[in-house]
Amino acid sequence: MQFKTVTTEDNTITVVDDTYNEAMHSLSGAYQEALYMHVIPSKVLTKRGQVYVLDIGFGLGYNVLALCVEALKQNHTVFYAIISLEKNTDILSAMEYVYFHDERDTIYDLLKRSARGETVITDYFSHSVLYGDARQLLSHLPANYFDAVFHDPFSPAKNPELWTVDFFKKLYSLCNDECIVTTYSAAMHIRTAMKQAGFIVGKGPEVGRKKEGTIATKKNIQIEPLDDSYWLYLKTNPKAVPFTDPTLCETPEEIRKGRKLHMAAFKKGLQAP
Ligand SMILES: C[S@@+](CC[C@H](N)C(=O)[O-])C[C@H]1O[C@@H](n2cnc3c(N)ncnc32)[C@H](O)[C@@H]1O
Repeated sequence: MQFKTVTTEDNTITVVDDTYNEAMHSLSGAYQEALYMHVIPSKVLTKRGQVYVLDIGFGLGYNVLALCVEALKQNHTVFYAIISLEKNTDILSAMEYVYFHDERDTIYDLLKRSARGETVITDYFSHSVLYGDARQLLSHLPANYFDAVFHDPFSPAKNPELWTVDFFKKLYSLCNDECIVTTYSAAMHIRTAMKQAGFIVGKGPEVGRKKEGTIATKKNIQIEPLDDSYWLYLKTNPKAVPFTDPTLCETPEEIRKGRKLHMAAFKKGLQAP
């Protein structure tokens, strides 16, 4: 697998994965996206004690890095137990392209060790990377457990398997009541998938040139939910028809094809999203 490096507008590096032909981060700022789209909206920095974080799509590890950099500023009063899921072991070589020329490099070296298979444990965080398809890996994780989920696959069009109703249902079962899920897509079919999985869904922040993201939770105390008029509008819009993957092992092509069929049925008035 080939990676092309790109320096983004906050001077941090991202890579373009040639399988997806997509950059791993927003070109308006890779590290900025990690901090402002995931770490801060997840509210993990306001928690106390032991905090459990699930990071889906480890990639270059920026979401975990941004969390650890901020956590270090808390003088070790909180301990973050972080698990990342990643299917591509080639990210190990992509991480070698990354440097910051500041204090982030020290933490990043630790993350490279966890990417190589070590469970890294410090005074204020632990981190391990589980390799495989996140759809199957979720079955090995405890229910009602996580305080935050950074949901960060490639785009829904290219990587639909991690954006289905069925994947979000599985994810729902792993979240505790206070958990916040952060993701960068605000697409109607993604928000519908999250809602159908049981989540309460709200707007996430706008970061750089990316339009608003989405946040989701189980209990209506953490976020401001999207209002009824939004959901009513979606009921009439075929673009809100979500991806499904009942066996959690369909190929991206099968998932895209399934959605097309559901959209066609919706247009004929046979099925609501
Ligand atoms: C946008 S990149 C993630 C960027 C990363 N969060 C960061 O902070 O650098 C998406 C990642 O999801 C991974 N991925 C895609 N499909 C996956 C799957 N089914 N299971 C696990 N990881 C997957 C890709 O290999 C890629 O590394």
